[in-house]
Amino acid sequence: MPVDLKSIFNVDEATILDAQDILRPFDQLVPIIIEGHEVRLPNNNSLWRGMQFWGLMTGEVTIDFGLYCIAGTCKNCKTRIRRAGEDRKLNVLACQTMVEPGIEIVRLAPGFKIRREGAAPMAPADPA
Ligand code: FES
Repeated sequence: MPVDLKSIFNVDEATILDAQDILRPFDQLVPIIIEGHEVRLPNNNSLWRGMQFWGLMTGEVTIDFGLYCIAGTCKNCKTRIRRAGEDRKLNVLACQTMVEPGIEIVRLAPGFKIRREGAAPMAPADPA
């Protein structure tokens, strides 16, 4: 079942087309935590693209695009995460690490910012 971005995020067609341009096909939005802030990112996509997506949909994430290759070579997207059910934190490349349920980003890479206050209201998650 395709995810209805238009009704979930109340965005226009142009924004949906922008999202489709940057994402691989996905069929759900996965709840994850970014520095204490809950977001929902598309499965089958990297954390990097997922955060770009969230920024497009909500304006809550901004990225300094000039810093990043999005190809696994610059290493500038080094991000500290903790996976569901694990205590240990580890550093990963956000552009090479897939969105997965329960993942927590404990420290974003420089150049990523998440706005924690004044978040836009959002429709409830699909009970999938
Ligand atoms: S953006 Fe360059 S390695 Fe991830």
